Amino acid sequence: MNNKNFAIFASGNGSNAEVLCRYALKYNYPLKFVFSDKKDAGVLSRMDKLGVEHFSIEKNKMSKIDYERHILDTLKEKDIKWIFLAGYMKILSSSFLNEFYDPNLKLNRVVNIHPSLLPSFPGKNGYGDAFDYGVKVSGVTVHFVDDGIDTGPILLQESFVRDSNDTLESFKTKGLELEHLIYPKALDMIMNDQIEVYTR
Ligand code: GAR
Repeated sequence: MNNKNFAIFASGNGSNAEVLCRYALKYNYPLKFVFSDKKDAGVLSRMDKLGVEHFSIEKNKMSKIDYERHILDTLKEKDIKWIFLAGYMKILSSSFLNEFYDPNLKLNRVVNIHPSLLPSFPGKNGYGDAFDYGVKVSGVTVHFVDDGIDTGPILLQESFVRDSNDTLESFKTKGLELEHLIYPKALDMIMNDQIEVYTR
């Protein structure tokens, strides 16, 4: 597929979104906008500074179906083919994901970055759960999104070592630095048709 228009979804601070945006601007990749489900998310002021188009819609009392329909309308209007989740904390429904199913790739064109070596420590607190477990090696994963929670096919994974004197804070800092390195690599792979996932 030649059209690689993409959007980034983020709910919070937006450091990954900023790294992806800067990379997309540098390499002229077709980033169309950044979306947030939170009106006061830090990611939005980052986008103001970068001059990247952005908007937010809060769910409030809307049903999940109506909420996602609103988002889908904008995605279709802008002809978005790929979505990069960067700290987006809502679960996308199967019907939303189906809209991005690519029969050639046999994958949804939605990717996520997760703060652990999946399949260990899925969910909302990857760094905290891995740290509390007492892991000696942890890492970060970029994966395609499927119907499960952090279960989709893995595109990229990299590890880092937890030292005996690491605090949760320093552990997270190591992880986030790695996220900022691998998410642009994943963007490159997708933009350049270099997707490889291992199946049994
Ligand atoms: C990142 O650590 C990302 O991996 C994580 O949220 C953080 C967002 O940071 N995502 C998840 O936990 C998804 N389950 P950022 O807003 O600074 O990019």
